[in-house]
Amino acid sequence: MSGAYPGAIPSPNIWDYPEIYEVENRAVDPDRVIEAAIAELVAQSRAGLLGGDTTWGHVLDVGCGNGFHLPRLAEVAKRVTGVEPRASLAAAAQHRTRHLSNVTIRQGVAQDLPVPSGSVDVAHARWAYFFGPGCEPGLREIDRVVRRGGLAVFLDHDSTRSELGRWFADGLAVDGIPRDVGTYERFWARNGFARRSLDIRWQFENAEDLAAVLRIEFPAETVLRALAEIGDRLELEAAVNLWFRRY
Ligand SMILES: C[S@@+](CC[C@H](N)C(=O)[O-])C[C@H]1O[C@@H](n2cnc3c(N)ncnc32)[C@H](O)[C@@H]1O
Repeated sequence: MSGAYPGAIPSPNIWDYPEIYEVENRAVDPDRVIEAAIAELVAQSRAGLLGGDTTWGHVLDVGCGNGFHLPRLAEVAKRVTGVEPRASLAAAAQHRTRHLSNVTIRQGVAQDLPVPSGSVDVAHARWAYFFGPGCEPGLREIDRVVRRGGLAVFLDHDSTRSELGRWFADGLAVDGIPRDVGTYERFWARNGFARRSLDIRWQFENAEDLAAVLRIEFPAETVLRALAEIGDRLELEAAVNLWFRRY
């Protein structure tokens, strides 16, 4: 797997601080609200398909990072392909899933997916800012690879609600969610996606972890303001959007 990959969008949080990003991933959604919502969408899409096959079939995790979500996807899918442009992260994903025979890691980008046409049952991406306005080539690729009857489901921060949303809405967030939420929402609608809004929690084990995660997500002034608002809490309220489309 080579180093820089053409078409990769810089992701300073996980590229520069993979250990802290791991802490963040562990903190997000301890109640597994997101997983349950995705499972419900998949069940609705797959009802009546494949003669009673209750697995999720072939799941594609686009921008899988160091593979945090792959083991759980591997539990419910027949097979999982993780696609990640950053060589070090793809290698970490490979290492994390080395004992899972139904997981394959491929280096690649959303706009040129290394999987055959019509081969994917569920295309999944979390914190997928490489989709969104300006990233239409990635969505065309999703159109190509998802088979008829399949589902695409992409998770993003909702910067219009919740305390974390407010900090993201400062427009300075590393993840680059556009300030103009209207443009963003119209983009998804224009491309045939519907939204499911979810309220979740971020739950940390200690204050140091919480502060470290805020520092990789927000600029210094936002972190200061956020920490003052948070006080001695270890739990943050967050809102996310699941953008989904059935094929
Ligand atoms: C914020 S991280 C999320 C990682 C992972 N989905 C998770 O939840 O742990 C975004 C990931 O997308 C990857 N990425 C950047 N540009 C991409 C592109 N054009 N296509 C696919 N993935 C991309 C980054 O390298 C990074 O690993």
